Amino acid sequence: MLNSCEGKSVIVTGASKGIGKGIAAVFARHGAKVLVVARNLDQADACAAELRAGGRQVSAFVGDVTNRSEMEEMARVAVERNGGIDILCANAGIFPQSKLEDMSGADWDTVLSTNVKGMHFSIQAALPALKRSKGGRIVLTSSITGPVTGFPGWAHYGASKAAQLGFMRTACIELAKYGITINAVLPGNIKTEGLTDLGADYERTMAASIPLKRLGTVDDIGHAAMFLASDQAGYITGQTLIVDGGQTLPESLEALNQA
Ligand SMILES: NC(=O)c1ccc[n+]([C@@H]2O[C@H](COP(=O)([O-])OP(=O)(O)OC[C@H]3O[C@@H](n4cnc5c(N)ncnc54)[C@H](OP(=O)(O)O)[C@@H]3O)[C@@H](O)[C@H]2O)c1
Repeated sequence: MLNSCEGKSVIVTGASKGIGKGIAAVFARHGAKVLVVARNLDQADACAAELRAGGRQVSAFVGDVTNRSEMEEMARVAVERNGGIDILCANAGIFPQSKLEDMSGADWDTVLSTNVKGMHFSIQAALPALKRSKGGRIVLTSSITGPVTGFPGWAHYGASKAAQLGFMRTACIELAKYGITINAVLPGNIKTEGLTDLGADYERTMAASIPLKRLGTVDDIGHAAMFLASDQAGYITGQTLIVDGGQTLPESLEALNQA
């Protein structure tokens, strides 16, 4: 049983809703002290209040991952409130859609500065405290989109998610001497608030293309993140864990339908 996150200090960026909130909830349920980070104060506060139910240790910090000094303040607050930083889940990400013909320089800058540069700023800010932890852990939320698959409108998003993995493969070597590991979870289609808004038909069609015949839950990603952050995963670094219900495996519709 993975119980090694009990009492650990965990930061989750992009945690006021969606996958980040799910990751934060899983860590909180397993006894970690969690700092929920997002830009919108009301949503971050509401999320932390909801996750605190039952006496869990969750608090909110308002910060933008694209702002280096806000990330430094985030790390300072985590150390002050929770006694250090053991685990950073660099999850904040955006996925605006734009076709190749329309994609502007500003579109590129927005996506890359949040998904890649912002990820780095959060890691850089947390590093001094992670080095002091006995076995610091960094878990990135990448995606199947980019590293494995493609989806129209998400060329820049896919490039940013693949870039996270390129970053990770060098970072894991630089961080090894501090005993810090860095790994990435690659979610498939996960049922978040945003996806629920697209309606039951969309969900049914997507579920039909997944061998396990359902979308993922935010808990599915939280459990994968918790495994990569556990003591038991201490010899795993620079690796990817696809959590997609088998979505990326059928080589054709025929393969899916014959099963
Ligand atoms: N949903 C999926 O099926 C799926 C699949 C594969 C990968 N992913 C990845 O999973 C991650 C989360 O996706 P999601 O679907 O859960 O997204 P979401 O529901 O839109 O939530 C995004 C979260 O990130 C925060 N955020 C956005 N920009 C931020 C910034 N600059 N600084 C700090 N916080 C920021 C948002 O709060 P504020 O707006 O208040 O800042 C919110 O809490 C992303 O990295 C995404 O690429 C998602």
